[in-house]
Amino acid sequence: MSTPLPFTHLGRYRILRELGRGAMGVVYLAEDESLQRQVAIKTLLLPDDAKDSRELEARFRQEAKAAGGVSHPNTITIYDFGREGNWLYIAMERLQGVELRELMEGGPLPLDGALDIAGQVALGLAAAHERGVVHRDVKPGNIMVLPGGLAKIMDFGIARMKTSDVRTATGTMIGSPKYMSPEQVNGHMVDQRSDIFSLGSLLYEMVTGQAAFQGGNLGQLLAAIMHGAPVPPSQVRADLPASIELVITRAMQKNPRSRYQDAGEMARDLAQCRATLVRAHAVPAAAAAAEAAAAAAGDPYAATAPAKSQAVDVDVTVANGQGGWSLAPGFDSSAGLRALAEGRVAPSGRQGPSWAVTAWTCGYLLAAGVALLVAFGS
Ligand SMILES: Nc1ncnc2c1ncn2[C@@H]1O[C@H](COP(=O)(O)OP(=O)(O)OP(=O)(O)O)[C@@H](O)[C@H]1O
Ligand SMILES: [Mg+2]
Repeated sequence: MSTPLPFTHLGRYRILRELGRGAMGVVYLAEDESLQRQVAIKTLLLPDDAKDSRELEARFRQEAKAAGGVSHPNTITIYDFGREGNWLYIAMERLQGVELRELMEGGPLPLDGALDIAGQVALGLAAAHERGVVHRDVKPGNIMVLPGGLAKIMDFGIARMKTSDVRTATGTMIGSPKYMSPEQVNGHMVDQRSDIFSLGSLLYEMVTGQAAFQGGNLGQLLAAIMHGAPVPPSQVRADLPASIELVITRAMQKNPRSRYQDAGEMARDLAQCRATLVRAHAVPAAAAAAEAAAAAAGDPYAATAPAKSQAVDVDVTVANGQGGWSLAPGFDSSAGLRALAEGRVAPSGRQGPSWAVTAWTCGYLLAAGVALLVAFGS
């Protein structure tokens, strides 16, 4: 039995049914009665306290207005926002696709699919960042993949509404902080580079099938994000091309100054990785047809099993000596990728660890050392 709706209308929108619910509130399917089109409406219940309520509404309006100004094929379109009684609402494009979260439930994605989605997300983020909008909650549940493969980012700026002092309609717990950047965990001001970190963390999980940071409890997870180095992704997935590991490593640098500084640059590197992958292993016609059929069925990546993804057989020695885990600010990953693609790097035979492996390991050892010092010093 479904819960009765708390209202029949919000503004000019007639509420039809519930689509789903998250930490902040419920999302409804509704009809815009003037334009006679279906929309999705996200709702937020205002707190009882008048001051909190005023502050929240002001923040909501500011964020909704900013998100409404972003127009890009890879970002959801915001139509309208308003208030009805104690409810704030935001009307947006209704998306009918598969959440990336669901696609990832089947384990690692085929590399081509993962690069495609990450590249689209990077482009959508770049468009938002150009308008000064930081997403703050890049995660698989906020990315919808439409039949045909178009990826759309949802929920721009909404994460700012999820502060602990906000009473939510469905509970008070914020979503998983798995993809948060270290500066976000620290409660510092965040800018576009925080979204870049989250996208790196998301790409790590898309290609390996496991989260970059894990912990038995929330405290351990947050400590891992701030101080830990993830297992090198190529150790989790042996066929991972060095170029993809390079992009992930650069996006996930703890120091924002050492990451990609803009999402457009990351999108270009991802496109370069994808081009190299396709050139190295032209997708056979049969596989392409199967992918097209799966896409038409609504799951564009279901047809190709991860095992079919192929490695690009080059090493990452190109980046040797350029900084290990802590990449220097301004490290030129594009040049590294070009060298990898053009085969200008020495064939390695994998003697000795790649730079990325060295980098992750050094970071890990450093974190472990600090933890030991703290433990024995106290
Ligand atoms: N524009 C939309 N079109 C269709 N479905 C949507 C739309 N926006 C949200 N949804 C769906 O509504 C549900 C709730 O979304 P919501 O953003 O509130 O929560 P969430 O992203 O799952 O979690 P969190 O609150 O932690 O962000 C999700 O299943 C989501 O896919
Ligand atoms: Mg969401």
